[in-house]
Amino acid sequence: MPAMLAELKIDLPENVPADRVVDWNVYAPPHVESGFQEAWLALQAPDMPEMVWTPKNGGHWIPTTAELVLAVFEDHERFSNRVYAVPKEGGEKQNMIPINIDPPEHHPWRILLNSNLTPREVRKVEGLVRQTAIELIEPIQHDGQCDFVEMVSSQFPLRIFTRIVDLAGERVPRFKWLVEQFTRPDGTQTMEETFTALKEEIATIVDVRMGKDGDDMFSKLINGEVHGRNLLREEAIQMCALVMIAGLDTVQNFLGFAMWHLATHPQDRAKLVAEKSAIPGAVEELLRRFPIVMSGREVRKDFKFGGVQLKKGDVLVASTVLHGLDQRMHDAPMEVDFERKRSVHMTFGAGPHMCPGANLARSELRIALEEWLERIPEFALAPGGKVTFSGGLTGSLESLPLVWPI
Ligand code: HEM
Repeated sequence: MPAMLAELKIDLPENVPADRVVDWNVYAPPHVESGFQEAWLALQAPDMPEMVWTPKNGGHWIPTTAELVLAVFEDHERFSNRVYAVPKEGGEKQNMIPINIDPPEHHPWRILLNSNLTPREVRKVEGLVRQTAIELIEPIQHDGQCDFVEMVSSQFPLRIFTRIVDLAGERVPRFKWLVEQFTRPDGTQTMEETFTALKEEIATIVDVRMGKDGDDMFSKLINGEVHGRNLLREEAIQMCALVMIAGLDTVQNFLGFAMWHLATHPQDRAKLVAEKSAIPGAVEELLRRFPIVMSGREVRKDFKFGGVQLKKGDVLVASTVLHGLDQRMHDAPMEVDFERKRSVHMTFGAGPHMCPGANLARSELRIALEEWLERIPEFALAPGGKVTFSGGLTGSLESLPLVWPI
């Protein structure tokens, strides 16, 4: 359990009771080195209140139960997306479309976004997804060892994405670095500087593609229509920046967690090798067990929630981990059970902003597992190898050393 700070004489906002205060940094949760999701579970210790407040990152609330996390995601009338990241001063300088827009203005933007990520659109790129998986796995297949993050998961969504949006190879490392600074800042620049730099990079793409025919996803978004009109340059930049941030780090990290599980649970691995048709269901259960996204919200008016008085302008961070692993919601939540009747989860969120990329993400995850297990059916953690984790708005598995017989 995190240290309760009540006795530490910090100046609390008048609506924060001292017995709700915890020492919690979303970018570096205590004990994250022993597992990202495991670290977050400290906020569901038996004596933990259902709403807690941390002074870190400008001070914000954290709902600790699945029920409250779901309520926050679903209730845009009381919880606004205007502030999506902490600290608030940084979060409110981001204006990405449509994550920072509340309904009803949010809706037309989602229509444009969704139209590029439908199951039909995703099926069109499945060949490319499969080819990318094979390109990454075949060269290492006979090596008998690799760091999965370095060789596969960090490359896989990046290569797919750059092909789908038609980005030149030499720009990719810069984009990847900026996306990581956004979700897991290392302190080299402020959140505002990261966002400005990312937008400047994206602007060069928008300027070339705006008003031109192109069937890559960026061209289709940039030249799309909202409210019966074309997008403004700034709107196109804000939307493309978001799609890039949202689609890279998430798939990379989730895939790492899924492979960590399979490397350490031979029976689960054997089941998927023997029964390829079980992979989509297994992906769903792994999604439930390994949520990675934390989302900020700003309180829109004064009201009571989770036993505390929220004030207009307060900020919350809702953790999808605290939904997927809440034992009040799931039996034996830490167990991965491919036979579970329904793997209900919020790993892709809920409510108006629920992930529009979920079809693409599921397809990428299923295909990556199919192609890996086809070529490398038996694998384990490298003896003495270290699996490392870090916190952030997207939780991360940073290294996964694997070995297999050759
Ligand atoms: C395992 C992979 C992924 C996970 C776990 C994930 C998770 C999420 C979550 C939890 C949200 C909701 C955030 C909120 O309401 O605060 C979200 C939104 C979003 N995701 Fe994903 N995502 C994944 C992959 C992708 C991919 C591949 C794309 C695009 C190509 C994508 C694009 C987006 C966008 C654009 C939004 C914002 C939607 C809006 O504001 O209406 N995501 N994602």
